[in-house]
Amino acid sequence: MAALKTSDKVLVIGAGAMGSGIAHVAAVAGHTVYLYDMQAEAVERGRAGIGKDLDVLVSRDKLGREVADAALARVLPIGNLSDAQDALLAVEAVVERLDVKQTLFAELEGILAPEAILATNTSSLSITALAAPLARPGNVVGMHFFNPAPRMKLVEVVSGLATAPAVAQTVHATAQAWGKVPVFAKSTPGFIVNRVARPYYGEALRVLAEQAATPATLDAVMREGCGFPMGPFELMDLIGHDVNHAVSQSVYAACFNDSRYTPQLIQQELVHAGRLGRKTGQGFYAYGEGTTLPAP
Ligand code: NAI
Repeated sequence: MAALKTSDKVLVIGAGAMGSGIAHVAAVAGHTVYLYDMQAEAVERGRAGIGKDLDVLVSRDKLGREVADAALARVLPIGNLSDAQDALLAVEAVVERLDVKQTLFAELEGILAPEAILATNTSSLSITALAAPLARPGNVVGMHFFNPAPRMKLVEVVSGLATAPAVAQTVHATAQAWGKVPVFAKSTPGFIVNRVARPYYGEALRVLAEQAATPATLDAVMREGCGFPMGPFELMDLIGHDVNHAVSQSVYAACFNDSRYTPQLIQQELVHAGRLGRKTGQGFYAYGEGTTLPAP
């Protein structure tokens, strides 16, 4: 099955960490990208972030100035979803909640063409459940990027029970055309990466709760001893504790409360405190003027 043509328009909903990154990738690949967020300032912030990230690529000779400028010009902020009627692929990266994503997709079914693909960047939610109440569940598929989306190659292409094989194949081919390394996955809890990664975060949080080691020690151990590019606490701070905790809860519930996936209170406390990681300036580490950031 062929990839989308570069002349096909892409709609990205949610202009946070992931949505901005996905818009960046699609725009560099040549698509016009509509960028929407329920908060207008998030769209502006997201687009400005894409501009900064493109500048970094130019300064490192990874992209020409003209290519970067043209890519940014293709990212079009929109204030209403109805402004994206001609998009053939919608990728949502809004909050990790099934009800919110279902409502959004139902709205998109009323706006986009019947053949438009509704892709979700969900980290853990069931694609089958997300698609079930929709008129065209065959068009729903997971297109799961990793953080930061412009840099990380992997994309999980996740099929639910109703996903049309041609839809999954088109998304797989499109991800490849965007320079990614896509893999097919099934709609199981956490798919592949987040299923395997949950016990990694969980065990690190348990070791911390037992006061056996600090986050800095645990991160150094996993980096220097095990060859991980980032330790678990640096990574959770990058992902965002709101997102990471929501994914833990979702995988735990979907695995019938299997104790291997028990979410950890310490992370819930960070969420309650609003210490969501890099995006709020504080998580396990402090970020900002005068602080030393753990290497990304
Ligand atoms: P974020 O908090 O940075 O951004 C979410 C954005 O969605 C916010 O700007 C918010 O205003 C907007 N939003 C929320 N509800 C909306 C709605 N109904 N309509 C329009 N906009 C809405 O979150 P992040 O980290 O970008 O995560 C988004 C999704 O991507 C989640 O499903 C998450 O599980 C998934 N994901 C996150 C990764 C990460 O490392 N943070 C990695 C891979 C997937």
